[in-house]
Amino acid sequence: MMRDNEILSRRVFLGTCAAGAALFTTRGLFAEQLALTPSRTEGPFYPDRLPLDTDNDLIIVNDGITPAVGEITHLTGRILSETGSPIRNATIEIWQCDANQVYLHTGDSDGKRDQQDKNFQGFGRFTTGSTGEYYFRTIKPVPYPGRPAPHIHIKVKKGGRELLTTQLNIAGHPGNEVDGVVLGGIGVFDRELLMAEFKPIKESKIGELAAHFDLILGRTPDESAFKPKSSSSR
Ligand SMILES: [Fe+2]
Repeated sequence: MMRDNEILSRRVFLGTCAAGAALFTTRGLFAEQLALTPSRTEGPFYPDRLPLDTDNDLIIVNDGITPAVGEITHLTGRILSETGSPIRNATIEIWQCDANQVYLHTGDSDGKRDQQDKNFQGFGRFTTGSTGEYYFRTIKPVPYPGRPAPHIHIKVKKGGRELLTTQLNIAGHPGNEVDGVVLGGIGVFDRELLMAEFKPIKESKIGELAAHFDLILGRTPDESAFKPKSSSSR
């Protein structure tokens, strides 16, 4: 099991490797630079019609009383600059298919109306405060035909600009070993940065899970030359 500070150290270590000899600061120390979160393809199913409810609780739609089907997961993390500063007023969006493998996109759901879980919101948003933290309640992602690796799609925006589009995967899931997007055009270090552990919450009597995933952006969005790290796999 890996604690948050261990995950952060791993990021620092990986970032240092990625920077090669790293940079010396004026104090003669190695600059601590976090490894940037790699971008991944948006895929075809960013919702073509956003739901009326776009809050950060994907388990309950509007005032519904029936929760979505699936393993309830509390997804938390921070949006940080490469030096570890929290990025405030960033909007993180997530979208994923429901437990029956249907996305909130007419290109997917039109032929699967009977299959779709109408109680799953499928998309949610959260805007960060001064700590850069975000929170979603959603389901543990499931594989679907063509994508053996379960994943949650993520987009980060600020001031109307898209800063990063990526995908979060489940650490240790066997589907990761045979999934074209997980494996394609990305090195082993970067691939590892997109893995999150889904751990049982001990106190939960209904088997809820917790996952933590920090997003590290290449430049603070206030810098005009901001450029997210690109990936060859689009
Ligand atoms: Fe997907």
